[in-house]
Amino acid sequence: MLKMTATATANPTALVVGASGGIGAAVLERYLRDPAYKRVFAVSRGPQPAELASVEPRLEWLTSDYSETSVADIVEQISQGGCELRRVIICNGILHNGRLKPEKSLDKVGREAMHEVFDANVVVPALWVSTLARHLRKSNDCAIAVLSARVGSISDNRLGGWYSYRSSKAALNMFLKTASIEYARRAPRVKLVAFHPGTTDTALSQPFQGGVPQGKLFSPAFVAERLCEQLETLQPDGELTFVDWDARPVPW
Ligand SMILES: NC(=O)c1ccc[n+]([C@@H]2O[C@H](COP(=O)([O-])OP(=O)(O)OC[C@H]3O[C@@H](n4cnc5c(N)ncnc54)[C@H](OP(=O)(O)O)[C@@H]3O)[C@@H](O)[C@H]2O)c1
Repeated sequence: MLKMTATATANPTALVVGASGGIGAAVLERYLRDPAYKRVFAVSRGPQPAELASVEPRLEWLTSDYSETSVADIVEQISQGGCELRRVIICNGILHNGRLKPEKSLDKVGREAMHEVFDANVVVPALWVSTLARHLRKSNDCAIAVLSARVGSISDNRLGGWYSYRSSKAALNMFLKTASIEYARRAPRVKLVAFHPGTTDTALSQPFQGGVPQGKLFSPAFVAERLCEQLETLQPDGELTFVDWDARPVPW
């Protein structure tokens, strides 16, 4: 069976969206360590960290407000630069911030917070996946992984709560499933993956790490490695794969 490797093309490129986050930064670091990728693009709302500036000529850091225009401009810029996108990792997602926290009960559900969570968790990844479809029509092999979460699984929901986050991740999964059907027609050599990283030691999980069993709080570097490893073996099959850090399928 043909393996999806980055070495078969002249200018294999990785794109990491949401590169300032805990997992995004680790995935970026992972691709910068891999000489198979000749170009590595990072997209973030924030500026390039100073420590990356001098050491990495293969890295291009692009700031974005994640508007439709900005996403379209960046995808165009990457395509015109003769880069062949082989890996796209979309790491955006919020659970809490200064304005909002996950709702423990229905009484806490509010319009503004829900809009904000859905924008970051569904709309932003959806814009990237839809914009990339046009540019990946002729791709020979590319994997697009979007950071989802097990709490977006409807059948696995036993605890309740976290209304906006849970429902946004379920909506994200449905968007990706629907996109995989269209990608199968328009860009059949592209594999779509919804990835559950497990509880990972980042700002997102920080307030909720208390109850995590020993050995089950992963470092971002560990999770990035598990994700990138899996993308080397998953084949384009016209399906969305919903999988966890341990390569186990997550139920819908
Ligand atoms: N950590 C966990 O335990 C865990 C568990 C399950 C799933 N996940 C998922 O993994 C992904 C990465 O999370 P993380 O743990 O790395 O969290 P993090 O360190 O808080 O990173 C947040 C990410 O979301 C982006 N972001 C933040 N606010 C945004 C906004 N308003 N609009 C668009 N993008 C925004 C950031 O991108 P910029 O670079 O643009 O700032 C960054 O990529 C998320 O989708 C999260 O739901 C995490």
